[in-house]
Amino acid sequence: MDITFVLGDITDQNTDAIVNAANNSLLGGGGVDGAIHKKAGPLLLEECRKLKGCATGSAKITKAYALRSKYIIHAVGPVYKDGFNGESVLLASAYKRSIELAIEHNLKSISFPAISAGAYGYPVKEAALIALGVALKAKEQNVPLDELRFVLFNDEVYNTFKLAYKELKEGIFNGTTP
Ligand code: AR6
Repeated sequence: MDITFVLGDITDQNTDAIVNAANNSLLGGGGVDGAIHKKAGPLLLEECRKLKGCATGSAKITKAYALRSKYIIHAVGPVYKDGFNGESVLLASAYKRSIELAIEHNLKSISFPAISAGAYGYPVKEAALIALGVALKAKEQNVPLDELRFVLFNDEVYNTFKLAYKELKEGIFNGTTP
């Protein structure tokens, strides 16, 4: 499985699934969520209504309607308070559950945004280390995906993810991963 990084818009991605940074209602919002609903069209909201929400740290899948991808995986990350309220476990869980759903649906490629790192206030570097930790673990476990893509919306988030990836990989090679 390749772990790749793109500076861009998640709604433009051609992976089998794209991941939405959703909220518990699954009924839309701002940021990534707003962009996805706007571009996918109103049928997406209709399907989302039937899902009856989603717990924090979990994810649910829908069709992708007018988007290039086949599916949308709606993942709910935590709102960041101070880091001592289980945020890291919940954020890792949102990524893990999304990967599991992709595999359950025989998908081969998936694009992730920086879940919780916008409106939900997660510090970007910490969010990147958690996201990439899950991605590297999936790679190590040889999950049946060809590509796990991170789609980062601006230079700062993109550069932070790239740096975090380098640090994590160097840590692993040095045997100093926390
Ligand atoms: N493509 C890729 N990344 C994007 C895009 C895009 N089109 N738009 C924004 N980002 P956020 P959260 C980046 O706020 O923190 C919504 O209202 C953004 O710069 O979308 O998980 C939901 O309904 C940031 O780096 O998600 C929830 O209520 C990252 O995506 C709440 O926001 C995540 O920012 C979820 O907040």
